[in-house]
Amino acid sequence: MAEPFLIGETMTGGYGGADILHGCTLAVERGEIAVIVGPNGAGKSTAMKAVFGMLKLRAGRVRFDGEDITALSPQDRVVRGMGFVPQTQNIFTSMSVEENLEMGAFIRRDDFRDTMAQVYDLFPILKEKRNQPAGELSGGQRQQVAVGRALMTRPKVLMLDEPTAGVSPIVMDELFDRIIEIARSGISILMVEQNARQALEIADKGYVLVQGANRFTDTGKALMADPEVRRSFLGG
Ligand SMILES: Nc1ncnc2c1ncn2[C@@H]1O[C@H](COP(=O)(O)OP(=O)(O)OP(=O)(O)O)[C@@H](O)[C@H]1O
Ligand SMILES: [Mg+2]
Repeated sequence: MAEPFLIGETMTGGYGGADILHGCTLAVERGEIAVIVGPNGAGKSTAMKAVFGMLKLRAGRVRFDGEDITALSPQDRVVRGMGFVPQTQNIFTSMSVEENLEMGAFIRRDDFRDTMAQVYDLFPILKEKRNQPAGELSGGQRQQVAVGRALMTRPKVLMLDEPTAGVSPIVMDELFDRIIEIARSGISILMVEQNARQALEIADKGYVLVQGANRFTDTGKALMADPEVRRSFLGG
């Protein structure tokens, strides 16, 4: 079988002290949605940082589009086609919505107006509020800014760490619909989600992480149907 489009393979490492990740593997195929769930402190964000190159791995590797990128900086990974929306501090609050999108295009030397128009098509409220400081937007709108900013580099894979954190169920559904739309346009999605049921529902592949290691890996559907996964991680 061909290797996955993006894979963080048997990743081990941490922040200088004890290891947080213990041989953790995450992968996503072209145009598919992979979802990572697990308890607080399981290392989900740490694993995302590792895939994006923000964490030095003691063992394991990251491969993307057939290439070993383990040694690349996050900036170089962006150039290769990775977009990342971190869990916190993912927008510039004092800058306008449009300035945030422009910042997102930092690696582009070409005309990025088309991409900005696509982001505004995907998230019409951002067009309406384009001159407002991003810090004045609602939680759900800020997440749209963060996702839109990451799309400005025209990534091949978009990594999202809890894109629906702190938003209402209706806004969450909206955001998931947009994420599905992004995936259908051919961009792979690797995302961490606290709303495990809803996220696994739209996931081609799901990972349950516990204490920095893979506990369960299967299709989203199969995980949802697994009694042990349901009982321990999905609230029954
Ligand atoms: N910058 C850091 N420096 C040192 N330790 C950290 C750092 N960030 C996270 N940790 C530790 O790494 C472990 C995993 O944290 P991580 O943020 O990856 O968990 P998570 O699964 O994303 O949790 P949550 O669901 O709360 O977002 C925790 O024990 C945490 O204290
Ligand atoms: Mg986290």
